[in-house]
Amino acid sequence: MAELDDYAQLNFLETLLSNKGKILVTGGAGYIGSHVVLTLKDAGYDVIVFDNLIYGHQDLVETVLNVELIVGDISDRPLLDDLFQQHSIDAVMHFAAFAYVGESIQDPQKYYRNNVANTLILLEAMKAASIDKLVFSSTCATYGVAEFSPITEKHPQQPINPYGGSKLMVEQILKDFSKAYNFNYVCFRYFNAAGAHPEGLLGEDHDPEPHLIPLVLLTALGVRKFISIFGTDYPTPDGTCIRDYIHVLDIAQAHLLGLEYLQNGGKSDVFNLGNGSGFSIQEVIDTAIKVTQRDINVKIGDRRLGDPPILVGSAEKATKILGWKPQYSSLEDIVAHAWQWHQKRH
Ligand SMILES: NC(=O)c1ccc[n+]([C@@H]2O[C@H](COP(=O)([O-])OP(=O)(O)OC[C@H]3O[C@@H](n4cnc5c(N)ncnc54)[C@H](O)[C@@H]3O)[C@@H](O)[C@H]2O)c1
Repeated sequence: MAELDDYAQLNFLETLLSNKGKILVTGGAGYIGSHVVLTLKDAGYDVIVFDNLIYGHQDLVETVLNVELIVGDISDRPLLDDLFQQHSIDAVMHFAAFAYVGESIQDPQKYYRNNVANTLILLEAMKAASIDKLVFSSTCATYGVAEFSPITEKHPQQPINPYGGSKLMVEQILKDFSKAYNFNYVCFRYFNAAGAHPEGLLGEDHDPEPHLIPLVLLTALGVRKFISIFGTDYPTPDGTCIRDYIHVLDIAQAHLLGLEYLQNGGKSDVFNLGNGSGFSIQEVIDTAIKVTQRDINVKIGDRRLGDPPILVGSAEKATKILGWKPQYSSLEDIVAHAWQWHQKRH
């Protein structure tokens, strides 16, 4: 330890004393990342959040998470090198990315730069610092149009937008890194993250908000005038599209299990995270009316190009290998937790 300065020595001793390890969470001030940080902390890990705060919420890191926040961009290699030298990081959880599908079609460069090129910078910095474990946020958008349902990890990956394409490229980079270097990863392909912390501590707060459940609840709150349903003539029981909504705390629990899997010597692998059962747009709206006890103004529009009727994932592999089982799979729980959060936040 002779060459380490006092600060680094202190961190080294801290890590020795904490039996679980120190985890760097990129994008930890964002929606899913912040819930994962809380779950990691509750499980006894030391956590550092690394976020450029473009979409993240500093107030939640400071008042709810109470962990160290490094405000920085994953493209900043000197900052990452410095961080990895100062702290003995056991594993990285990588949430930092852009995730607006529509924007990715209009401005693909932005997505390939941040989601792919900047991730490569992070991976290079990890390699240089001999950090050999990563948990990565991928997406069901890497599958493209569903050829069968529920979608398993073996489904062909043919993304239909640059967002999905950017995440698939990272999956390929991770595969190659894992083959060539001393490096293992767990890649989670989430379906639609939804819900909020059951005690209202954390929740979803995107601007602009692209996701259905918050949009419906913001309509119930009067923040938005109406919610649009695009197409009511799909081959589904009520004619509206069916999607797989997975509670954000169940995603967080999966991350904990994925991390433990790597710490126990597990090899690189990919897992879907979904609820296993889909819910239609109409069901989401009906549930929101029931939960909020408010009227929700709905506008029926035409189908949108590229919206498949049904997108539901199979998470059997995560259950079998990681022992993961969603705790909050009822739509009513998901909507009720989100409602509690939105009432508090707005
Ligand atoms: N929300 C979903 O339903 C969903 C579904 C599938 C996959 N994902 C993936 O999960 C991850 C988290 O999604 P989310 O909904 O929490 O998004 P989010 O926008 O709430 O969180 C992402 C965080 O990353 C930060 N960030 C972005 N680029 C950065 C950079 N270059 N350097 C440092 N910080 C940066 C943002 O400020 C933000 O806090 C993303 O990678 C997303 O692609 C999300």
